[in-house]
Amino acid sequence: MFPRMGSGSDKAVLVARGLTKVYRTGEVEVHALRGVDLDLADGELVVLLGPSGSGKSTLVNILGGLDVPTSGELTYRDHDLGRADERELTRYRREHVGFVFQFYNLIPSLTARENVALVTEISEHPLTPEEALARVGLEQRMDHFPSQLSGGEQQRVAIARAVAKRPDLLLCDEPTGALDYTTGKRVLETLSRVNTELGTTTVIITHNAAIGGMADRVLRMADGRLVSEERPARRLGPEELSW
Ligand SMILES: Nc1ncnc2c1ncn2[C@@H]1O[C@H](COP(=O)(O)OP(=O)(O)OP(=O)(O)O)[C@@H](O)[C@H]1O
Ligand SMILES: [Mg+2]
Repeated sequence: MFPRMGSGSDKAVLVARGLTKVYRTGEVEVHALRGVDLDLADGELVVLLGPSGSGKSTLVNILGGLDVPTSGELTYRDHDLGRADERELTRYRREHVGFVFQFYNLIPSLTARENVALVTEISEHPLTPEEALARVGLEQRMDHFPSQLSGGEQQRVAIARAVAKRPDLLLCDEPTGALDYTTGKRVLETLSRVNTELGTTTVIITHNAAIGGMADRVLRMADGRLVSEERPARRLGPEELSW
């Protein structure tokens, strides 16, 4: 028997079954997800590939509680997210999920340390802003404002902010999309290190298939479905990747 597509180990953090998402705008219906089954195993690093419009961001936004499915089941550990109301979803996001987006969304008038502190002040068992920034190699730049940092450094502040609350789940939507080759690699190294050192279950959406080499598992989407799954024989360090 073949294992179910998208299944990780038996110790799943997040389990999705039959997720669909239909966006309705007036008369137009877009079927963004057409039945996605996915298990995310505790601590794994998944790279999610697929053409533009295939539903990657929609899926990851639903996994992170930023959006809700039209139908299907979604369970985080013992919590039924499929039936959660807005208050429960907010709590799920706040306590368990870190997000990293293509554009860093830092607050320009706050230093790196203060941007991270915004999150640590409302978290229960956070890293200190100093620890979080040291993890991403920015211990020397804590008191700099975003405008004094390069794009890659700003993205690392965004990663520090996302991981400072020690999330269970780190969801990254094209985190290197706005960065050049070297800077992008540095950001990937940061993500890989956070995954192994903190054990944070991580999903990275990218258009760059080469990035799949650093994953425990590579998933591909097409037209609202998961269509393939690969487990690289050996997980490479981002410094070993080239494209
Ligand atoms: N808020 C929305 N309203 C209507 N349609 C939407 C909305 N968000 C996404 N879609 C549609 O859903 C489909 C999947 O979009 P999604 O953003 O998940 O794709 P993606 O794989 O992330 O693409 P990309 O690689 O370009 O970021 C697309 O056809 C998109 O136009
Ligand atoms: Mg997208």
